[in-house]
Amino acid sequence: MPNIAFVNGKWSRLSAAKISIEDRGFQFGDGVYEVIRTYGQEAFGLKEHLNRLKTSAGEIEIPIPYSTAQLETFIRLGCQRSKFSDTNIYIQLTRGAAPRNHPFPKTVRPTLVMTFRETIKISTEVREKGVAVISLPDIRWGRCHIKSLNLLPNIMAREAAKRADAFEALLIRDGFVTEGAGSNVFAVLGKRVLTPPVSPFLLSGVTRDLVIKLGKKAGLEMVEEQLRLQDLKTADELFLTGTTVEVLPVIALDNRSIGSGCPGKTTAILYNAFQNYVQKTS
Ligand code: PDD
Repeated sequence: MPNIAFVNGKWSRLSAAKISIEDRGFQFGDGVYEVIRTYGQEAFGLKEHLNRLKTSAGEIEIPIPYSTAQLETFIRLGCQRSKFSDTNIYIQLTRGAAPRNHPFPKTVRPTLVMTFRETIKISTEVREKGVAVISLPDIRWGRCHIKSLNLLPNIMAREAAKRADAFEALLIRDGFVTEGAGSNVFAVLGKRVLTPPVSPFLLSGVTRDLVIKLGKKAGLEMVEEQLRLQDLKTADELFLTGTTVEVLPVIALDNRSIGSGCPGKTTAILYNAFQNYVQKTS
């Protein structure tokens, strides 16, 4: 089945889709995005992702050229047309094409692009073994709650992780962990399951928010609290959350084992709660 694209109302094969080289997303990273995945034909957390797109776009003053209902229709259509069993949906909204000049153009014609590809899943082997992470200074700007296209620090951090044979880089700002380069982070310390509180320094992940709710429902003590690198290093368990990773156990940080060095029980409870929720809602 083909990878397909939607560019300002036009559908095409992904390989045939085009935008102007003067698009401000291309020239300035002047835009915002979302990554959504489906389980079957059901786009997971669609309302939450579209709400966040709205918030991100509002924060940088880009009008969204379609209503939420229209976006939902396009997304449903894209999934039907691409016919993947599980689809990765990328939505990008930019301030459109204009001659290169830093201030906003007088007339903004936003570009809204969506791509539909098959979801690349994390293998069972990786999930069962858990992943390694590294820590790095968080050099990003102070508005990381906006899901902006400016991902250079995230890209550099992920590449550094890859070169260290790690899956993710956890970012440290002023002594406290914020999040991963493309995921949120949780630590299990005794009976408490901790994650940094929502702030302008991290993205309030759709998966993060759901995992907090599911954990509370399961009777776990879910706490939003600042965490130091040392707290992570001495945690019984660590795990990542995100659209692409779901709930993923971390077994090593900066080359040192976390807890027993194996995926932990609490992480497994939350992973199972997440999968049960997915099954019920898709
Ligand atoms: N990233 N933090 C950052 C910096 C992220 O980029 C992401 C998601 C998350 C998790 O958010 P959510 O649970 O809503 O997916 C947290 C996407 C998947 C990406 O950029 O590819």
